Amino acid sequence: MASDEVEGTSPLPHADEHITLIGLGAIGVSFLALHLTYSSATVSVYDPRPDLEEHIQAVLPLYLPSSVDVASLISVGRLNLCASLEEACLAATIVQEQGPENVGFKQKTWSEVIRYVAPTCHLWSSTSGIPASKQLEHLSTTDDKHLEYPPTTDDIQASSARQRLLIVHPFNPPHIMPLLELVPSPHTTPAEVSFAKSYFTALRSGHRPITIHRESAGFVANRLSFILFREACHLVNEGVASAEEIDEVVRASLGPRWAMAGPFKMYGFGGGNKGLRGFLDNIGESIGEVWRDAGTITMDDDAWKDKVVEQTTQAYGLPSAEDIRVRDGGLRAVVKAQEEQERVARHGGGQGGQ
Ligand SMILES: NC(=O)c1ccc[n+]([C@@H]2O[C@H](COP(=O)([O-])OP(=O)(O)OC[C@H]3O[C@@H](n4cnc5c(N)ncnc54)[C@H](O)[C@@H]3O)[C@@H](O)[C@H]2O)c1
Repeated sequence: MASDEVEGTSPLPHADEHITLIGLGAIGVSFLALHLTYSSATVSVYDPRPDLEEHIQAVLPLYLPSSVDVASLISVGRLNLCASLEEACLAATIVQEQGPENVGFKQKTWSEVIRYVAPTCHLWSSTSGIPASKQLEHLSTTDDKHLEYPPTTDDIQASSARQRLLIVHPFNPPHIMPLLELVPSPHTTPAEVSFAKSYFTALRSGHRPITIHRESAGFVANRLSFILFREACHLVNEGVASAEEIDEVVRASLGPRWAMAGPFKMYGFGGGNKGLRGFLDNIGESIGEVWRDAGTITMDDDAWKDKVVEQTTQAYGLPSAEDIRVRDGGLRAVVKAQEEQERVARHGGGQGGQ
């Protein structure tokens, strides 16, 4: 559903929730727009950047329906800009963090947060790859199932936090992209996973939370995406194609194809009436050859990075506000096409399925 369509419908959900957002960079502002547009929750935000208010005033309107005014949200107390993490957490029922991507930051932040919030507060991290168990592993070494008697306050707090923290990993930009990967640690309770799922489903924003069964580096979407990205960088580095040419190859092939069905269903079509087995039998040797030949560049090597950054910047410059508008309009159109495809698949073509 496009955000502009929300107005005039039934009351927005989550009036009783108070969401605290930690970190208001690319992901934080986008999540802020999602909560403000589709829920009636109160939102408090914390980010130590000195220009926080100017930053929010500049970027948030790009993501909100045109009728929503940021200054009014602040003046009526729907959106609170806080000067400290403690102030931001005081009334929180949900804390969602999207600060810097390093283990030290995540661990230090949770150590503080759990001192400030109620023991029932839901804890979500937007991390691209640091599992929930890693984010809390510093808190206490005591195994939850074998707490010493009587348990210390620290042990109780650590055990409770471990049960409440899960990853809610978005795909950028989260105010539009439907995927939210819910990744519990082995300690996270099923009730916490259900709560996160029901929170986003109730928004009626078109978001599609998917629970991932086990923690692993990069979860699922980024594992797939980063492997493709590695090969794209390798091909640029080897001079097989330029950054701009590879972008066009993806836009003209994998992009539209995978917007309509994922790799398993799509490759199933490639095997004709024998489905995926037929595809693997027919093309398997070529696939194996590509896997053997795939690039193995690493993040320690700057030479390929210089090449891909130079080509990308030369082709597109740095992203502007207008580029963001064009990107968001295009992504919304693709998501809408997917929703239409699902409607047709469920009810058949024409208007009769409404
Ligand atoms: N950018 C993406 O495509 C993407 C996608 C999914 C998830 N993520 C994850 O979201 C998180 C944020 O990524 P981003 O791209 O928005 O980064 P970003 O650099 O744009 O934003 C990070 C923000 O954190 C703030 N910050 C720094 N120190 C802080 C502190 N002590 N307390 C609170 N805030 C602090 C910074 O001022 C900045 O505004 C990361 O964990 C990242 O892995 C990013």
